[in-house]
Amino acid sequence: MSFDLVFFGGTGDLTWRKLMPALFQAFRHGKLPAGGRILAVARDERSDDDYRAFIKERFHEVESSKRPSDDEFARFAELLHYRRMDLSQPDDYAGLKAWLDERGADTVVLYLATSPHLFTAICQQLGNAGLNAPHVRVVLEKPLGHDLSSAREINQVVKAVFNERQAFRIDHYLGKPAVQNLMALRFGNALFEPLWRRESISNIQITLAEGLGVGTRGDYYDNTGALRDMIQNHALQLLTMIAMEPPSTNDADAIRDEKLKVLKSLKPFTAESVVRDVVRGQYRAGNVDGKKVPAYLDEVKVPTGSHCETFVAIRTEVQNWRWAGVPFYLRTGKRLAARDAQIVVNFRPVPHPIFPGTNRANKLVIKLQPEDGLELHLSAAKGSGVSDTLAPVSLDLDFDKAFPTERVGAYERLLLDAIAGRLNLFVRSDEQEEAWRWVEPVLEAWDRERKSGGEGPRGYAAGSWGPAAASALVARDGFAWSEEQ
Ligand code: BG6
Repeated sequence: MSFDLVFFGGTGDLTWRKLMPALFQAFRHGKLPAGGRILAVARDERSDDDYRAFIKERFHEVESSKRPSDDEFARFAELLHYRRMDLSQPDDYAGLKAWLDERGADTVVLYLATSPHLFTAICQQLGNAGLNAPHVRVVLEKPLGHDLSSAREINQVVKAVFNERQAFRIDHYLGKPAVQNLMALRFGNALFEPLWRRESISNIQITLAEGLGVGTRGDYYDNTGALRDMIQNHALQLLTMIAMEPPSTNDADAIRDEKLKVLKSLKPFTAESVVRDVVRGQYRAGNVDGKKVPAYLDEVKVPTGSHCETFVAIRTEVQNWRWAGVPFYLRTGKRLAARDAQIVVNFRPVPHPIFPGTNRANKLVIKLQPEDGLELHLSAAKGSGVSDTLAPVSLDLDFDKAFPTERVGAYERLLLDAIAGRLNLFVRSDEQEEAWRWVEPVLEAWDRERKSGGEGPRGYAAGSWGPAAASALVARDGFAWSEEQ
């Protein structure tokens, strides 16, 4: 199957930091279908060779095991092409179409790795130029919109030009191996499904913690904040995967229908519940990995006195028969104690403890980062013959060890899926809009608070687990975050 993969924003950060290294890995692993061309388009004049040299240079920033040797790069570079385009010029789209038509690949993937404010204009131009035939797919990077109305606007334009099955909305968390394993765990094994419900589970925690700060992205981040950057998309997508009903098939729409039902069942926010069930924070100076780091307000390009949240913790519920009354806690933040992304499923304790000492409830930890794996925490007898006291033990599954040669990174997986036309791990427009609808009352409440001169987010020391109020949010229900258990 021949394909042409076009990156709009071909010299931008996303392209050289994430997409090219991912494509190179796919190439190295022999997974990239033969007969492919990769075309980068951007505003400045360059030859193919200039562009290849530009990418080669950038590969020095990639971790060493993922860097190509000169010989590997030379072979990979044969796939790379470059075209100058002014994205506001219809003629340039006609030129692109002619370039693509000349070869007539079976599949054309147009990846919009540009600033999102250009998405609608680019899609319109693609439509006008006839670059929307059925063999064309468009990949849209987050953030898709800033709120519900802007997300809808983008979707309307995308829908006017492409049909839904041509639109690949990326949430790179869905490409992470642990997330695919979550589907496998739930629907490829009979063991957990009977327990996957309110009768057996006391609470579920989703933590997406980062040690890094906002770096040089202060201007983008300050207009975004943790709720839009991580919760509206990544955390909610994980929540849908955890909470969804078993889909009837492995087809993209069967899965996305079930995910949408979860989003529609989320407990809606009211002005009071935003205050009660949402904690927002902003990092102050502190220590991360033994190094002093500045406060958010002292980062470059962050405006003085900003109220932007770098941490959010939320308590919510999925209001249906399976999950009624089970709290779901979502938490994300920058400059936290560790880079740690995980989903913790806390089971109920035994109904009638017969062993002395603490009876720990079981928990299943689905680890996304830094490694991906599964831990099942159990209680066991030590067998020392001295007492009947139980000790905590865990069954650990390290996927890197279980499948040493097969692991594929998130962007690699998603790019290969886009080329192959597999939509399962991409977000449908209705899911995306529903997620915006759910977070919007929180954004509005914070906006009102800011306008009325409120105090804004709570401070937390860089290198901590966020404001104390986040622990109180969980303690209120008699639970604790997993690192405090
Ligand atoms: C991105 C956010 O979507 O995800 C970033 O915009 C964040 O702010 C990143 O750092 C985290 O992704 P990962 O894969 O490193 O956990």
